[in-house]
Amino acid sequence: MKANIAVLPGDGIGPEIIDVGVKILQAVAEYFGHQFDFQYGETGASAINKTGDPFPEATFELCRESDAVLFGAIGDPKYDNNPKATVRPEQGLLAMRKKLGLFANIRPVTTFPELAGKSPLRPDLAEGVDFVVVRELTGGIYFGEPRGRSEDGKTAFETNIYTEKEIVRILELAFKMAGDRNQNLTVVDKANVLSTSRLWRETAQRMEKKYPEINVNYMFVDNAAMQIIQNPRQFDVIVTDNMFGDILTDEASVITGSLGLLPSASIGELTSVFEPIHGSYPQAAGKDIANPLATILSTAMLLETGLGLKKEAETVRHAVNASLKAGFVTEDLSKDNPKKTSETGEWIRRFILEG
Ligand code: IPM
Ligand code: MG
Repeated sequence: MKANIAVLPGDGIGPEIIDVGVKILQAVAEYFGHQFDFQYGETGASAINKTGDPFPEATFELCRESDAVLFGAIGDPKYDNNPKATVRPEQGLLAMRKKLGLFANIRPVTTFPELAGKSPLRPDLAEGVDFVVVRELTGGIYFGEPRGRSEDGKTAFETNIYTEKEIVRILELAFKMAGDRNQNLTVVDKANVLSTSRLWRETAQRMEKKYPEINVNYMFVDNAAMQIIQNPRQFDVIVTDNMFGDILTDEASVITGSLGLLPSASIGELTSVFEPIHGSYPQAAGKDIANPLATILSTAMLLETGLGLKKEAETVRHAVNASLKAGFVTEDLSKDNPKKTSETGEWIRRFILEG
C-alpha cells in the first residue's frame, strides 16, 4: 500500500526516538513491499521557537492530509517553572487533539514476562496484566468554558462539561473494544459527587442493553486508583473521562516496570495520532539513551489501527519482544549492559528485515 505519514518529533528526546520509529516503518515498508512517504512538521516548544505557535496551521494541514501521524513528545522545563508563560508547548498537544477531533485516547497496559521483577508491584500482582484504558480526550475540564481568573486574580476556575453525545461516542468505542477483547468493561467515574459523572453512568447504563454480551462494572475513580494497584488483572477495558484518564493512565503505565514501553493511539474524526505515552524527558535529550520501544510499539499501533496492516504490526511487536528476550535494551532496563537508543533501534530494524 501507499501511505502518507506525518512525523512530528517535538521536543526533548522526541527527535531521537522518532528517528528510530521512522526507520522501523521504513523497514516494514521494505520487507512487506509498501510505500510510506514521510513529511515532517513542527510542534511543541520547538515550534514556539520557530513560529510562536505550538501547533502551527501548517502542521495541522499536514496532519489532516496524511493517513496517520507519528508523534514524539512535547514539553520543555523552561515553561514548567514559569506559570506566567502565555504560550506553552502543551497547548500544542491540546490544539492538535481538538483540531483533529481526537476524542479517544487508547492506552494498552500489558506486562512483559521478560521484565518480571521490574514492576513496582509484587510479581504475583503484575504478572499477566493486560488491559486497555480508553480516555475521553477532547472534553471535560481540559476544554470546558468558562475558565480562568476572576478580575482581582484571587479566584481561579475551570468548567467540567460533557454532553450526552460526547459520552455516547466514547462509550460506543469502549463497548466495541471490550467486545473484541474479553467482554469486560469498567466505567470509571465519580458519580457520587459529580453531575458529569452521573450523566456518564446513566448513559452507560442505557447503552448496556445494546451490548448484552458485555459485562459492565461501575467504579468510582478513587477506588479504581486503588484497584489498579491491588488487582490489576481484573481489568479488560477501562473507559473514563479526560481528567480521570490522564491520572489513571500514568498510574497504570508504571505497572509494566518502564514508562519507556507503552504506546498510545488517539483516534477520532480526522487523522489518528500515534505516540509513546512518556514525555519529552529533557534530561536525556541528545544523549542517545532514551528507550525507543514505546515509539516502536506506537508504530505497530499506527500500522494496525491507522493503516489496517495487522501482520506488519505483529512483526514489529515480535521484533520488540525479541530485543527484550535478547536483553538488547536501553539503560532503563539494563544496568549492566545498556545499549543506545539508536543501537536498539538498529537491532530491531535488522530483526524485521531478516524476517
Ligand atoms: C498526557 C499528558 C498531557 C495531558 C499533558 C502534557 C497536556 O499528560 O497526554 O497524558 O494532560 O493530557
Ligand atoms: Mg498525562
